[in-house]
Amino acid sequence: MAPPPDMRILVLANQKGGVGKTTTAINLGTALAAIGERVLLVDLDPQGNASTGLGVDRRNRAASTYDVMMGEEGFKDVLLPSGVPGLAIAPSTLDLLGVELEIATQKDRAVRLKNAFANFHAQQQKLEPGERFTYALIDCPPSLNLLTMNAMTAADSVLVPLQCEFFALEGLSQLLATVDQVRATLNPRLTIHGIVLTMFDSRNSLASQVVADVRGFLGEKVYETVIPRNIRITEAPSHGKPVLLYDLKCAGSQAYLKLASEVIRRERLYRAA
Ligand SMILES: Nc1ncnc2c1ncn2[C@@H]1O[C@H](COP(=O)(O)OP(=O)(O)OP(=O)(O)O)[C@@H](O)[C@H]1O
Ligand SMILES: [Mg+2]
Repeated sequence: MAPPPDMRILVLANQKGGVGKTTTAINLGTALAAIGERVLLVDLDPQGNASTGLGVDRRNRAASTYDVMMGEEGFKDVLLPSGVPGLAIAPSTLDLLGVELEIATQKDRAVRLKNAFANFHAQQQKLEPGERFTYALIDCPPSLNLLTMNAMTAADSVLVPLQCEFFALEGLSQLLATVDQVRATLNPRLTIHGIVLTMFDSRNSLASQVVADVRGFLGEKVYETVIPRNIRITEAPSHGKPVLLYDLKCAGSQAYLKLASEVIRRERLYRAA
């Protein structure tokens, strides 16, 4: 099925835990919405941190990405508004943990999410252009499992958050090999959108070295914007808010706004190419 031409699907993936996937999904999503995009955040992690971080109470997750993966509901039926105008969320529940087993033997196990996006796209076409979603961001679990494979198969591009720490690059070759594998088999159009360095701590002398090393290794794929380690970013999810709503002026919010404009700039370049 043809990719939705007017909604870009970006997947936040890194099998390493705690590197900033969810934080980036929430805050990049919010920043994109703030500059006029219409964003659907798809929570594909059973932990449901993106849903919680956007203030979606577990009791309000009657329909979730589990139902989407099982083919029982479409995105249209599960998405909820967030507190951010222009940002909706397809929440997740712990049920997602069971999906892998439930669909393991099904032929379409890797294309479930792609098919759901195709249906959603068809519904979106019936809306006025200004009402359609322009971006979907998929937040993945810290694993290269079937959920992440589904996300990569459905997506246009992968955005990799990398924590500024000594072992930043460890595991990256496995992630890049997985992207290559998905491109060679299930999704020829998949690209790497970029690598975003997160949790940069200027007081840590090692951090600048890590940034230099990663840029040396990955070159222009690394976004110019580096997300600083910022206490406001850590606090925001417990208030059920993106940091941009919690404290717009803080360094973390400003960095995510900068990242959003960089993502859009790259989008224009990629589309023109
Ligand atoms: N720039 C930052 N400054 C301070 N804290 C941060 C920053 N980015 C993320 N954190 C915190 O680090 C923790 C891990 O971040 P996050 O949940 O986004 O990572 P993740 O990759 O989604 O984790 P998982 O693999 O478990 O899904 C969270 O407590 C988050 O609030
Ligand atoms: Mg997460």
